Amino acid sequence: MDRQVTIRTLFQKKKEGKKITMISTYDYLSAKLCDEVGIDCILVGDSLGMVFQGMESTLHVSLEDMIYHAKAVRRGAKRSFVIADMPFMSYQVSLEEALRNCGRVVKEAQVNAVKLEGGEEISELVYRLTSIGIPVVGHVGFTPQSINVLGGYRVVGKGEERERVKKDLKALEEAGAFMVVLEAVPMDLTKELWENSRSILIGIGAGPYCDGQVLVFHDLVGLVEEIKPKFVKRYAEGAKIFRQALIQFKEEVEKGIYPSEEESYG
Ligand code: KIV
Repeated sequence: MDRQVTIRTLFQKKKEGKKITMISTYDYLSAKLCDEVGIDCILVGDSLGMVFQGMESTLHVSLEDMIYHAKAVRRGAKRSFVIADMPFMSYQVSLEEALRNCGRVVKEAQVNAVKLEGGEEISELVYRLTSIGIPVVGHVGFTPQSINVLGGYRVVGKGEERERVKKDLKALEEAGAFMVVLEAVPMDLTKELWENSRSILIGIGAGPYCDGQVLVFHDLVGLVEEIKPKFVKRYAEGAKIFRQALIQFKEEVEKGIYPSEEESYG
């Protein structure tokens, strides 16, 4: 489990029908945990806007925020394949600016790939990045950076939207994206896309018919209590465990139980 995960490892898993695991997280310690248990890919997601910064959406996250968090994650992830989200407006203004910003993230944070939201409209950028040696992960279906256009969090790919999602995935694959995240897509559409895919398809709220799955660390360990989308499975009750520990610390300090001699220097 100590060999560095590469694009080749990931394609080999797809070929052999072995599922790929990905966690979205933003700091050194959680990245280290993911790395230690053998999670294949760590995404430094711009969901950090909500989960880490307490904002309402991903739209406020800056390029500097992403570089800061990606550097911390990289230090914790020795073998996992690290992907950094490009934040809103860091790649939409011009091709030149987008290339420069993606290059900065790869050089400064030493991530293995960048992730961009969108389909046909970013295909030229995907092509250019791939040709200069920057691997690209696409993101279609529900794309959080377009929340205002989509009108809130919802399933994308029903009815007329179905063809749009198919076209977007095709455009990304033709432009060279090696992996694509499908978010909040009906599972029969995911299945159809997966059966015809040449890229690695990673689902979140897209059902089981993908090459792998991604969840946000804080959702998975139960630290986010306020909302629980249908697709989230909590593997621990993190908030409850932490809350109990804090209550106990408070009580022990107040009662003079902590620190005891054992926790004190002689
Ligand atoms: O920002 C993020 O964490 C993501 C994943 C949820 C796919 O984009």
